Amino acid sequence: MLPVIIDAKLCKADELCVNECPLSVLTVEEKGQIPTVHPKKTNYCINCGHCMAVCPTGAITLTAFEGQKAVPFSKEELPDAASVETLIKTRRSVRKFKKKNISSVEIGELIHTAAYSPSGHNAQPVSWTVLDTAEKVHELGEVIVEWMENMVKQKNPLAEKLFLAGIVNAWKKGNDVICRQAPAVAVAWAPKQGITPQADTVIATNTLELAAHAQGYGTCWAGYVVLAAAYSQKVLDFLAIPAEHMAHGALFLGYPAVKYRTIPPRHKAVAEEKDGKFVFRAKPNTH
Ligand SMILES: Cc1cc2nc3c(=O)[nH]c(=O)nc-3n(C[C@H](O)[C@H](O)[C@H](O)COP(=O)(O)O)c2cc1C
Repeated sequence: MLPVIIDAKLCKADELCVNECPLSVLTVEEKGQIPTVHPKKTNYCINCGHCMAVCPTGAITLTAFEGQKAVPFSKEELPDAASVETLIKTRRSVRKFKKKNISSVEIGELIHTAAYSPSGHNAQPVSWTVLDTAEKVHELGEVIVEWMENMVKQKNPLAEKLFLAGIVNAWKKGNDVICRQAPAVAVAWAPKQGITPQADTVIATNTLELAAHAQGYGTCWAGYVVLAAAYSQKVLDFLAIPAEHMAHGALFLGYPAVKYRTIPPRHKAVAEEKDGKFVFRAKPNTH
């Protein structure tokens, strides 16, 4: 089956799709003809939909998306640059949450938005595990604490480096610094093998974080969840992450119980010219 279907009645033979396709899947033999899939490139299509996105008449559908039409949008619907900058700068890592749940359906909407983030070869390898109550998040914390205790007992150098003994002690005293008593957690995972699965997962997680902030939810990267998943099969099993897959992103989610009134400072990257190239470097934070 061909990956791209062009409706001959709607096609204006403007070749915009032919010129846009990143893998040159579409071709025309002669000017004014309706494009066709290059016979040697039927397997090259990465379903990015750029052919659909540039077509002014909606003549193109992708077989993989079962006839779904491209969604039109107008320039006026886009946020202005200042709004996007404000959204990015006002996102904070939220670590205190109201006792109010976000449903898995609401988180599912954010996951669908995050599916529009870029991925190597448009492979879109990212899956998510969502815990949608504080009780389920606490259960995850218990599995992670068990792993941390083992790391401490085994005197694993990582345990000292990451102060795991302190985190375990805090947990025992009812202070959850692993998942911050969040009412939800979303863990992003992908196959170990692939084109760029780790980058794809991190990008999708960050996209979800920004989409969540725009909706008024608070998020924070759950670094200990990702770390524990890299070491503990029990954590992977708890999160229903299959064999040969790895978690690379995790977020706590909830309604923020803290109000941020200002934007804290960040070091500005300063440009230095080196042999005609501009090297932008910001002073790193040292701890
Ligand atoms: C990969 C990664 C892992 C993180 N893990 C945690 C974590 O486990 N717990 C936590 O409270 N914050 C975690 N953070 C949040 C950072 O501490 C936070 O991004 C940083 O202090 C800057 O604050 P801001 O996000 O509000 O700008 C993590 C951030 C990243 C990018």
